[in-house]
Amino acid sequence: MKDKKLFNDGFVNFGDIFSKTIDVQKLIFESKKLLDNAILNKENLEKIEISQNDFNDDSIGEGSYALKRIDQHNKEISKILQKIFNNSQLNEVLEKYLGKNFKVHQISVRKSSENDKGLGIHQDGPGQMNLVILLDDNNDIYGSTVFLKNSHLINSRAEELKLLTPPFFLKLYRFCLSYISGKSGDICLFINRTWHGRYPSSGKKSKYLIFISLHAEGTEYGSEHDDWYNDNYLGNLPNSKFKDRINHKVGTTKISDKIFLINDSSSKKISLSFEQPKKNKIGNISLLNLFYLITTISIVYPARFIKRCLGK
Ligand SMILES: [Fe+2]
Repeated sequence: MKDKKLFNDGFVNFGDIFSKTIDVQKLIFESKKLLDNAILNKENLEKIEISQNDFNDDSIGEGSYALKRIDQHNKEISKILQKIFNNSQLNEVLEKYLGKNFKVHQISVRKSSENDKGLGIHQDGPGQMNLVILLDDNNDIYGSTVFLKNSHLINSRAEELKLLTPPFFLKLYRFCLSYISGKSGDICLFINRTWHGRYPSSGKKSKYLIFISLHAEGTEYGSEHDDWYNDNYLGNLPNSKFKDRINHKVGTTKISDKIFLINDSSSKKISLSFEQPKKNKIGNISLLNLFYLITTISIVYPARFIKRCLGK
């Protein structure tokens, strides 16, 4: 599996690598059905045995919806994900980036609706990565996750520079942004240190995908807004890499009920190495990213200053 593009750009589409081993159409059908049903019953989720923590709407940007732990909610999806995570080639790449003890946390299906207002540029936790399975063909930027290509190599984090920008900035900077184009069923991977957001919808169509958050060895994971997998679901899974990856009690140390620390090892972790700025090569940063940095700073900083003065 070629991951040079992932290393250089911060994201990659590996293509339909599982087309022969998994039933992609079944995965697409079941995942969409599950989320559509949750949206339909969002005022009464207990009725369909979904916890409030598992369902997100406006919190991930107005006009988009997500449902977590989809494998626990649907047996067919679970079987397909077991096959994906037990694949030795994919495991090899993931272990190279995240260490051999990496954990799989949120397995979600997300819908960007026709009314999606987008999500501003941000980064996620240190060493975090996302595996993405496209559930629709993606031929345009609308409703897509967008990236500032190779911005994972910028030494400072967006929040340190106070450059977490709102969604309307995406439209201003459309020419600076890249998105992952591909066909439904394609498997993509991105490094969450890469500055990213979600481009607003065109108002014409919705897009679905599966988002799987992956956490590196030596980092903490979990949140008060997430539920861990049920013991009952885990107990009924056949022994496999997948089962251990999603079980927060395996290969971890408890920090609190909602936060666990992933056991470290001496294995190399490329995704975490980007957090050590000296290792980043400044020469790899594109002119486009420099342009983005300079112009957003010259818009955002004075705007904040004026807002503060007017607020006094
Ligand atoms: Fe993110």
